[in-house]
Amino acid sequence: MATVRTESVLILGGGLMGLALAHKLALHGRSVEVLSRRRNEAAGFVAAGMLAPHAEGLSGEQLRLGQLSLDLIPSWVNQIETDSGLCCGLRQCGIVVPFATAAQRDLYPTACLGESLDRSGLEREVPGIGPSWQAGLLFSQDGQIDNRRRLMRALETACVSLGVHFQEGVEVHDILQDGHTFIGVRMRNAEGEVHTLTSQKAVLCCGAWSAQLLPALAIVPVKGQMLSLQGPRDSLKRIVFGPGTYLVPREDGLLVVGATSEPEAGFMEGLTPFGQQQLQAGINTLLPEASQWPPMERWWGFRPCTPDGGPLLGRSSVDGLWLATGHHRNGVLLAAITAELIEANISGKGITAEQIQVLEAFQWNRFKTKI
Ligand code: GLY
Repeated sequence: MATVRTESVLILGGGLMGLALAHKLALHGRSVEVLSRRRNEAAGFVAAGMLAPHAEGLSGEQLRLGQLSLDLIPSWVNQIETDSGLCCGLRQCGIVVPFATAAQRDLYPTACLGESLDRSGLEREVPGIGPSWQAGLLFSQDGQIDNRRRLMRALETACVSLGVHFQEGVEVHDILQDGHTFIGVRMRNAEGEVHTLTSQKAVLCCGAWSAQLLPALAIVPVKGQMLSLQGPRDSLKRIVFGPGTYLVPREDGLLVVGATSEPEAGFMEGLTPFGQQQLQAGINTLLPEASQWPPMERWWGFRPCTPDGGPLLGRSSVDGLWLATGHHRNGVLLAAITAELIEANISGKGITAEQIQVLEAFQWNRFKTKI
């Protein structure tokens, strides 16, 4: 079996986390090589692109991490747009969370961080909202980015412009160690040849598939099905985040509708009538007029989920191998802070006390039992 040596930091996984990391490391002068299996399985292409720590009702360390990332996003996007020459479709459009009653609204974990709405406030923010919603919360600090059509392409272009090297269509079979130290990977390249690629440093960003490479990681797939509709431009200015269904309006009127949550599906691919009916029912109750809009696309993907729903960040059990995975429902939101934290962790230079504290909160071995 042939052995190829590289001085580059290996990025295992070419999804959003892998690209964000590759971009950040390259900006800091590192040589970077991304190993990517299949572009379209990346959760970064599948997600709706909500930037929603408040609308998602996060709490504790996860809320803090989400807020830190939300603050970083404008400058992160600006850098990507500068390096790529492409627009990422970032919009601080605000998110409305509707409730059947005011009592339910007031119990929401992030209620004190949003503006309380009664029925007339809901109608003002979401004209045409269904009649079953009597109260709401407006999180004007939350927003969206056009991950599927713009951000992923812009990040790839930015990486290429900074000299990041990509290997597409490759599968990493094993992580190779000398004792507890990372020494490389055994992989199959796009031509089907199996070989060893040696390196001193790598970051594992394999999303839902991460435990296939490091079985000690507590990550399972949670399938999500989605669809999109073409609405009239400017028909909806806010995102609507209902229970089980959300509506994300893009600038051109495309309405991205998500998402089922199917832990029992494992890695079962494909759409199901039941999943699609669930989304349709959500559309009917949230915004009845949208059920008349023409359907555009339907798709599915796999969220990487940990026992507490938070990511696994920082050092792994293998020296020289870092983790940036397990972002569950919040990968797009958390890409900016993840790239910043892991770059600081790898370089060790200038890492702040706050960054060390955040990394400690999201260590891979914080769970008592594996799921
Ligand atoms: N970010 C929402 C979801 O995972 O469905």
